[in-house]
Amino acid sequence: MPLYIKENGMSHKRRGTHSIWKGRWTFILAATGSAVGLGNIWKFPYITGEYGGSAFVLAYLLCILIIGIPVMMSEIMLGRDGRMSPIKTMQTLTHKYSSPRIFAAMGWIGAVSGFLILSFYSVVAGWALVYIGKMASGMFVSADATFAGEALGVLHASPVTQLIAHTVFMIMTGVVVALGVHKGLERSIRFLMPTLFIMLIALFGYSLTTPGFEQSWNYLFGFTLEKINSEALIAALGHAFFTLSIGMGAIMAYGAYLPDKAHIGKTVLIAATLDTVIALMAGVVIFSVVFSYGLAPTAGPGLLFESLPIAFGSLPGGVIIGTAFFVLVAIASWTSAISMAEPAVAWAVDKGYSRIVATSVVCLVAWTLGIGTVLSFNEWADTKFFGLTVFENIDFITANILMPLGGLMLAVFVGWFMSKEAVAKQMRIRSERVFITWRFILRYLSPLAIFAVFIYGLTN
Ligand code: TRP
Repeated sequence: MPLYIKENGMSHKRRGTHSIWKGRWTFILAATGSAVGLGNIWKFPYITGEYGGSAFVLAYLLCILIIGIPVMMSEIMLGRDGRMSPIKTMQTLTHKYSSPRIFAAMGWIGAVSGFLILSFYSVVAGWALVYIGKMASGMFVSADATFAGEALGVLHASPVTQLIAHTVFMIMTGVVVALGVHKGLERSIRFLMPTLFIMLIALFGYSLTTPGFEQSWNYLFGFTLEKINSEALIAALGHAFFTLSIGMGAIMAYGAYLPDKAHIGKTVLIAATLDTVIALMAGVVIFSVVFSYGLAPTAGPGLLFESLPIAFGSLPGGVIIGTAFFVLVAIASWTSAISMAEPAVAWAVDKGYSRIVATSVVCLVAWTLGIGTVLSFNEWADTKFFGLTVFENIDFITANILMPLGGLMLAVFVGWFMSKEAVAKQMRIRSERVFITWRFILRYLSPLAIFAVFIYGLTN
């Protein structure tokens, strides 16, 4: 059952250039496939460590609830309303709902963010590919923290290895996006999600047996009213956008293929819940290892790759389980990366280019930008702009500025410029009270919260 019935149809009028997802679960799987990725397993744990644990986790959960979920619903709704690439959809809808032209910029900002995010995402996913081989070699059997740290150091010091892995991953992404091998994509998501989930449950069970479990739990959930600083708040806001794949058009592009009858609210609740649960589970597991083996929670982007191999190395059958785990991480990253390329590719397809040409150009640009991230971990480690490496700058600009800005525009557009009736017709929320609450959050709470975090961050 293909996700896209045709990739490059003729009619712009009725359906746009794109086709429709088939089946109720397909879209939920695709949205979850986009949402669940490195953001959950790699980024969430390491930024939680950098910002000191539970206060950050609380801020992140609040951001998911009052900003992420309402904005994700809006973004999918607009995608389905426009049924074209995010850029064209926003141009059409600003016209349709007679709103200021500035909202059309959202589509452009999103396409640019897509290139930037894909560029570093592919590099980190490449690390996961390298770790499949490292785990399979058995080198981590009975490894200690020093050994695991050195193994990561070797990878980080080598631009060539990272570049090769980055190239492989980018090609994997490009092939799926270009051919629209959605049969393959759908199958991999269907298989991946449950397997990844079961594996995380098993790892969670393992973490219960480690001496560091209690400390890990308290570190993440011991919500004290400690002061949370402005940097952590901004990071929590940015991460809510990153982990749900919202604010840049990725989920809007997917929404364009959503059947008219599909219920957006339910879909978003399922995807966001799964995404959050998976991130929290990964966090508990990783910090259990961190505290059991005396690793530093503040290790940064290497945290996942330094901690879990030690755990696998201590387990019977760890070579196989560990290899399988990194295979799953790579596939989860793959289904996410595909969605990042979609806004720009869909735009070029709307313009009449073939999917293959569009995808090749998008991947080539992102690949080239990715070299900056590869070098950020070695040759350019000390080359800083505003005190940040190239990788850190790209991450900061996309997650903490561009995506929240996109989200702010989405919330204001749907909340203030679309009529209540138009929104109600699209959302088809049966309970009047739920609809009113959702719309209230979107009109007031979400924009104010994004705005407040921005201002607070800028002034501190
Ligand atoms: N949400 C994915 C993750 O957590 C990453 C991702 C996919 C993404 N598509 C995106 C991030 C679009 C930003 C924008 O790994």
